[in-house]
Order: sequence, then structure tokens, then C-alpha cells
Amino acid sequence: MHKHKPKVFLTRRIPGAAVQQLKKSCQVKIYPKDQVIPRKELLKGARWCDALLCLLTDKIDKEVIDANPHLKVISNYAVGYDNIDVEYATRKGIPVCHTPCREATDAVAEHTLALLFGLAKRLYESNAYIREGKWQSWAPSLLLGTLLRGKTLGLIGLGRIGGGVAERAQCLGMKVIYHDVIRNREMEKKSGLKFVSMKTVLKNSDFISLHVPLLPSTYHLIGARELKTMKKTACLINTARGPVVDEKALIEALERKQIAGAGLDVYEQEPRINPRLAKLGNVLLTPHTASSTREVREQMTKDAVENILTVLQGKKAGKTVNEEVYNRQKKKK
Ligand code: DGY
Repeated sequence: MHKHKPKVFLTRRIPGAAVQQLKKSCQVKIYPKDQVIPRKELLKGARWCDALLCLLTDKIDKEVIDANPHLKVISNYAVGYDNIDVEYATRKGIPVCHTPCREATDAVAEHTLALLFGLAKRLYESNAYIREGKWQSWAPSLLLGTLLRGKTLGLIGLGRIGGGVAERAQCLGMKVIYHDVIRNREMEKKSGLKFVSMKTVLKNSDFISLHVPLLPSTYHLIGARELKTMKKTACLINTARGPVVDEKALIEALERKQIAGAGLDVYEQEPRINPRLAKLGNVLLTPHTASSTREVREQMTKDAVENILTVLQGKKAGKTVNEEVYNRQKKKK
């Protein structure tokens, strides 16, 4: 009986009740240690299973995909899927699914706002100032921050999360401008957002927030030249993917006070942090936790499991990034 159940391999324990659900209809193996799975174990798990449930910390490249010619689905426990060679999986006819959801959109948008507030109100420096015993008296010029009302927020990327950030920032009385390779006229009409060139975003914004996926075209989208174009008083926020920003150039711009601050949730070499970053004043750092809320993780687990069960039933999973594989499968039948 057990033998006929499809095999699902999870590269790490994930929170949420849906895993128990999965166990009812599938044989489930989970890499037992709560750490990033070593490559050898990943290959072993991929070889064994029909469905692979992986995380953004797992590199799913040709070698992993080729480890199992019978692999039926790759279900990524993340919204982003730059950790997967989707092109190769598509060539092999394997659906790649992911877990975008309302909850994740809200969580990342909220986290972006938290970084925005943190930078505007200099929360990190204020917190350190008190803890280090430096506070002597109330003083008119102590840790001067900035108002958000009336300031310009420039968004680079206006997808679901960018849209969520725009909506919230407008409630604060901020002026929101954006640039994206695809213009979102519906959002412009609905919310009065202004589409501008990338250069205008860089030149005119008091805060710039990045909401683009990591693609060859967005790698180091923000580098030395872009940072130089920004206002000296501006701050950069990145909750998208680390390599969208040339981190070395960012550190140099911050050290030279070419820009005023940065709020970062993602980094070029996660989990390695350049020690120079940690020494800087108005820089807020969070460890890729923008989507880390109980509600989000619960929903992501549900979605990742549902994606697997749907594909294993021979159906098309709603959250598939390479839908073309289904058309090909249909033609083959
Ligand atoms: C994602 O889902 O892509 C986030 O970066 C991690 O939850």
C-alpha cells in the first residue's frame, strides 16, 4: 500500500499544518536537520522522490534536475525562484511552482514600511544610542530624522509587492513615483501613481524601494552610477533580492555619504554580511525575514503542498512559473 504512494522530499522542516495533510496521501521524507541541506543530501533526496519541495537556499540546477529523470514537480517554498534553473526544468518538462500569496505580499510590503520608518526616524541609531549609555539630556538637534508626509517614494518595480508598498506610502501622505519595464496603467489610474523614467526615480526620490525579481536584466540594477544619481539625503531599501544591488558600490556610497542610508533585508552572499555594512550608521539590516510571519509561512506551506498534490494528480497547478510545460504534456497525450 505504502509503496504506491508518491514520494515527496522536503529539503527542510517547514511550519504549517499542511505537511501532515501531505503525509496522508504521500510518502514524505524531510531532511532532518534544521539547516541548509548539504548538496550531497539534496541530490540524494532529489533522486529518491517524485516531487521536490525546496527552499530558496537550495540551488536547483541541471545536476539536481538530472539526478532524477522521473521527477514530476519542483515546488519552491518562496515567491522568488531565482534559485532554480527554470529554463532547464522547462526543457525537461517539469513544472516549477512557487508560493506567492496575499499574506506574503502584505508581509513584505509591511516590512518595507518598517524599514522606511526605521530610516526616517533613525531607529537603529536611537536604539544603539540609549543602550550604549550615551544619552545625557533632551537636546533640540538630537538624532534628527525626517518627516515622511510630503516626501517622494520611488519604486523600482510595481508588481504585487510594489503596489502594496505604494498603497501604504500614500496613506502616509507620501508622493509615489515608479519605474518598471512594464507600465501598470491600471494601478496608475486607480491610485494616481506616476510612471517615470529610471533616472527620474533616482534623481527625485527621498526613498527608493526595489521590488523586481532577480533576472539577468536586474543583476546589479543599482550600481555606482545609479547611486551617484540619487539625492545625498536619499535612502535605498531592498527587500527584493541581494544581487539586484551592487553591494560593494552601495557600501562605498554609504561610506562616502553619497546617500544617507539603506534598509536591507537581502544581500549578495547570504548569509554572509560584509563587515563594513555592519559598521555603518544609518543602515538597518534584517536577515531576509521580510516575509517571516506565522500567517505567511502557514499559507506558503499550504500552497507548496497544494502545488505538489495538484501536479501529482495530473492537473495544472495554479502557481506554476513555466506553464508552457503543461501544454507540451497535453500535446504528447
Ligand atoms: C520569497 O518568498 O521569495 C522571499 O524572499 C522569502 O520568503
